[in-house]
Amino acid sequence: DILNKQVNAELWSAYLYLSMAAWCESKGLKGFANWMRVQFQEETTHALKIYDYVLSRSGDIKLQPIAGVENSWKSLLHMFEETYKHECVVTDLIANCYEVATKEKDHATATMLQWFINEQTEEESNAIEIIDQIKLLGEKGEGIYHLDKQLATRVFVDATQNTAN
Ligand code: FEO
Repeated sequence: DILNKQVNAELWSAYLYLSMAAWCESKGLKGFANWMRVQFQEETTHALKIYDYVLSRSGDIKLQPIAGVENSWKSLLHMFEETYKHECVVTDLIANCYEVATKEKDHATATMLQWFINEQTEEESNAIEIIDQIKLLGEKGEGIYHLDKQLATRVFVDATQNTAN
C-alpha cells in the first residue's frame, strides 16, 4: 500500500513540475521550462522504478487518481521555494517507506528505497542551488537571462537505469 501511495506521489510530483514548466514557458523562460520538463521526466521514472519493483515482487499495482496542482506562482523564487518544500515532503515520504520496510524486515524493499534516499539529497540540493542563484541575480535583466540559458542545457538522463536496484 505504501509503495502504491509513493507511485502516486511521484506521479503527482511529475504533474506539479509539468505545470511549473508550462508557467515558465508562458513567461518566455524557455530554459527554466526545460529544467522543469526534465524534472517532470525524472519523476515519471521514479514512479516507474517503484511500479516495476512492486510488479517484480508479485505485488499489486493500484493506481489512484492524481490530485490537481497549482498553475501559477508569484515569482521564480516562489516557484523554486515551493519546489524545495515539495522535495522535503517527498524525502519524508521515502523515509517513511524505508522505516515501514525495515520494521517489516523487508530487506529487498529497504535496499530498493536506498536509491531514493540518495536521490532525495540531490533533489533538495538542486532546488537550493537555483534558489541561491535567483537570490544573487534577482529576477529581472541580464542575470536571469543567463541563468535561463544555463538551465536550457539540462538534459534528461534516466538515472534509475544506472543501478542494480
Ligand atoms: Fe521523485 Fe523529486 O522526487
